[in-house]
Amino acid sequence: MSVQRARVVEIQPGHATALVAAMGSEGNRVQARFARGCRCFGVVDGEDVIAYGWLSTRSEWIGELSLEFTPDEGEAYIWNCFTLAPHRRLGMYRALLHAIVARARDEGMSRLWIGSIDDPAEKADADVGFAPVLHLTVTAVAGLRLVRARPAPGAHVGLVEAARERMGLRSWRALGPARHRIH
Ligand SMILES: CC(C)(COP(=O)(O)OP(=O)(O)OC[C@H]1O[C@@H](n2cnc3c(N)ncnc32)[C@H](O)[C@@H]1OP(=O)(O)O)[C@@H](O)C(=O)NCCC(=O)NCCS
Repeated sequence: MSVQRARVVEIQPGHATALVAAMGSEGNRVQARFARGCRCFGVVDGEDVIAYGWLSTRSEWIGELSLEFTPDEGEAYIWNCFTLAPHRRLGMYRALLHAIVARARDEGMSRLWIGSIDDPAEKADADVGFAPVLHLTVTAVAGLRLVRARPAPGAHVGLVEAARERMGLRSWRALGPARHRIH
């Protein structure tokens, strides 16, 4: 499907069959996410969801970092964005982000956060207005994980501090257990 025909909708908990199918082996996570207040947006093609992304205003687990991200009042966090393989490189992710950002603006949100770890689609993040704030690297050390943070070049100091604070990073390095959580 061409991106011009892409339609982005907020998926409602009672109408999530196509989302569950799109999420494949992770489809069984959908209802628990809705139940704890997460929202989901999807690019739909007829009856099918071909790309999706989740939006949270409360704490979310960042599996890659074994850390929680807690948006402040008026903020939200975009996570678990995914485009099904046959539909990649057609602008679906960019269209999805555009729609989520527009909705967040309409709803009066003050800031959105997004993470992109080794993500080739960072260009799309920039295209819709996201600016890099923190660079994070994670190293596994004998059942532990070491997260190292550094400011993105040119990032506003206040934003860097805010990002660290949202992730509970009191210093530039955090050593802790590498935990796995279904979320
Ligand atoms: C990352 C992902 C969501 C991108 O989805 P997509 O619908 O293919 O992305 P788009 O077509 O909107 O691409 C937007 C831009 O990102 C960049 N991009 C996307 N995929 C890329 C790739 N594989 N290699 C290089 N650049 C890429 C390009 O700059 C692209 O713009 P362009 O095509 O105009 O050059 C998709 O590859 C995916 O689901 N990956 C697995 C999950 C994941 O990594 N999610 C990350 C966010 S949590």
